[in-house]
Amino acid sequence: MPVSHNSQSQRILPKTGVHNSVDSHQSAWDKDYRNRGRLWGSAVKNLPALPAGSVVLELGCGDGKTLAGMPGDWRIAALDISREALRLCRSSPTEAGLIQADARVLPFQENSFDAVFAFHVTGHLRLPARCALAREAARVLRAGGQLFFREFGADDMRAGQGEEVESGTFRRGEGMLTHYFTEAEALQLFCDFKAQSIRTHRWKMRVKGKDLPRSEIEAVFLKI
Ligand SMILES: C[S@@+](CC[C@H](N)C(=O)[O-])C[C@H]1O[C@@H](n2cnc3c(N)ncnc32)[C@H](O)[C@@H]1O
Repeated sequence: MPVSHNSQSQRILPKTGVHNSVDSHQSAWDKDYRNRGRLWGSAVKNLPALPAGSVVLELGCGDGKTLAGMPGDWRIAALDISREALRLCRSSPTEAGLIQADARVLPFQENSFDAVFAFHVTGHLRLPARCALAREAARVLRAGGQLFFREFGADDMRAGQGEEVESGTFRRGEGMLTHYFTEAEALQLFCDFKAQSIRTHRWKMRVKGKDLPRSEIEAVFLKI
């Protein structure tokens, strides 16, 4: 599907729609959003400063936390596998084109985007699916475009909780998987890109009187 631009609204996709077959993975997320409503706190603040008019895709936008932090002069498409997430997202202030789709099979042409955001979505996939997401992100980015990546690190307090279904990947709650990354794994996953930066942000979270470790890998990859 070509990306079309409606100059009035900055929308780059006409409307929400279903573009790929989805599986039980989707229903686990739908159930979670139905049960818990808005899951993910307030707008993300420290987004990169991209030029006005940048054509941006967000993978796994959830209920719109990252979208809510994006400036109004970007042309944004955002997708999620969960229809429930998109329903919650509808009230986001951002004029994004929302679409129900699977990040493993993107409904866009090659070289469509200046930037792709993948914040806390890659880690919810098994390894072959993570590889598919990385391939698709590379396909839809233009040369010189950037992929912005965030995922929890292997030393995060939640790593190791639940059933380990693959190395470093754990199933909890409603059945969603979370993979906890090392920097080396992130670099390996996006090895077709040039890594512009990678860092692990660590902080403490106080839970029941104890300071527990949080860890998030943040990286920027350049499509070459
Ligand atoms: C932890 S939430 C993160 C939401 C958002 N990126 C944020 O940081 O607030 C993960 C989201 O990824 C979505 N997701 C999981 N697998 C997906 C897939 N294969 N394609 C698209 N979205 C997916 C889920 O429905 C969920 O909304």
